[in-house]
Amino acid sequence: MKIYTEKTYEAISSRAASILKAQLVLKTNSVLGLATGTSPIGTYDKLVEDYRSGEISFKDVRTVNLDEYVGLEDTDPNSYHYFMDAHLFSKIDIEKENTHVLSGTASDPEKECRSYERMIRSIGGIDMQLLGLGRNGHIGFNEPDEAFTVDTHIVDLTENTIEANARLFNDISEVPKQALSMGIGTIMRAKRILLIAYGESKADALAKVIAGPVTPHVPGSILQLHPDVTIVCDEAALSKLK
Ligand code: F6R
Repeated sequence: MKIYTEKTYEAISSRAASILKAQLVLKTNSVLGLATGTSPIGTYDKLVEDYRSGEISFKDVRTVNLDEYVGLEDTDPNSYHYFMDAHLFSKIDIEKENTHVLSGTASDPEKECRSYERMIRSIGGIDMQLLGLGRNGHIGFNEPDEAFTVDTHIVDLTENTIEANARLFNDISEVPKQALSMGIGTIMRAKRILLIAYGESKADALAKVIAGPVTPHVPGSILQLHPDVTIVCDEAALSKLK
């Protein structure tokens, strides 16, 4: 694992964006795995700046997102479809048909998960996967469990995650109880992984991801087995690492 420790969220965002930018320079038609949440917003802002200044283009880029809430329409401001359009897709030159986000309203969610896996394979797999980290160690919506779930699947969100995400909804009762998420295998098959962790609330989880036992009780700990992981974080997020 390579770990960059930065002083501020702004510096984390610049560092993460510079790594993604290098990926796009090396392979202009990269398949990028993308995340939502607070962690990557600054990174997306930097990528938009780099696009506007002509340094990068997304014309040939394909994207696949980690997850989506069950039951939210694409147009719902809390859906991850909406998030991606608002923070990135609407601001860059990516072709709409090259962006892929799981459908939270699919009539057959199991089928949606299976076809998402097939789609990722059919476009050649993920070149670089961007991840945030849950306070409970989740990556994507792979919650702590007795076993790792390998492929894209339906998830029952834990109380911890529902509470953490409630800040974005009017009321905690509105937070969906389920999501569709890439599995641990889907994420681990990515050629490169870039994880962003900011702030003290991630410190316990990050210490376990880097140096704890590899266990499904801390899903992100599986990253210790991946050959190409870069972590971009701040000192607070790293503060529990002994
Ligand atoms: C988002 C996702 C989640 C978040 C994680 C951290 O697509 O899959 O795993 O990355 O919950 O969220 P933030 O960045 O909001 O702290």
